[in-house]
Amino acid sequence: MKYKGMIGLMDSGVGGISVLKECVKLLPQENFIFYGDSANAPYGEKPVETVQALTERVVDYLFKEGVKAVVIACNTATSAAVKYLRDKYPEKIIVGVEPALKPAVKANHHDILVMATANTLKLEKFKQLESTYAEGINVIPCACNGLAMRVEQGRLDDPDLIELLESLVGQYKGKADCCVLGCTHYPLIEKQIKEVLGDIDYYDSGLGTAKELKRQLKARGLLNTDSTEGSVTFESSHKTDEELKLYEMLFQS
Ligand code: DGL
Repeated sequence: MKYKGMIGLMDSGVGGISVLKECVKLLPQENFIFYGDSANAPYGEKPVETVQALTERVVDYLFKEGVKAVVIACNTATSAAVKYLRDKYPEKIIVGVEPALKPAVKANHHDILVMATANTLKLEKFKQLESTYAEGINVIPCACNGLAMRVEQGRLDDPDLIELLESLVGQYKGKADCCVLGCTHYPLIEKQIKEVLGDIDYYDSGLGTAKELKRQLKARGLLNTDSTEGSVTFESSHKTDEELKLYEMLFQS
């Protein structure tokens, strides 16, 4: 059990690193293993059954290696698989993520652009979120096909990323008073999204997810009480040194 007592985070690829950063800030004494399924990215445009099976494979692996909790740091994987996995592992802590629509509505925004994958926007979880929190609000869903995959490639300062963002969300500039980054890859390119959409408010689910993880660990007496600083380990299904370097670089940036 190589990850015994650690906290496992998973994503289809590098995106979950945006959630990992918040978890490490809030729980600096914990040991984290981040698993990116980059060999199978993107999840956002695959059949839902495939996403569920891919997510299950990673979560099974992390539990088999001894983690004390799993964070599904991917909106798409959460929507497709969290319910199924909580049924499969009723005794385990499994924290999911969801687009931060609730805080955006609470802050009195009325024209809310939600950038997410096609799967996240079409699945039940998002529909429920919308009907629970956003009645009477102009929610503008935007399926950002190809964007997570472009983030997977790195080179985030290259101009083609801005061109892609222009084609995906440029039309909403001036029409949305805030933007929900509903895919964990997108906080990694918030600076570039701002270049296109301007200086509106942006919401993501990183901090909320970290707080929920802490709450659940505390409730079960599973918080690490050592005073020494914890560690972060990276693993990827795309088993190359370059991939792990990209993970490290995005984590440090
Ligand atoms: N990072 C994932 C999410 O939060 C999905 C990206 C993808 O694989 O399409 O939805």
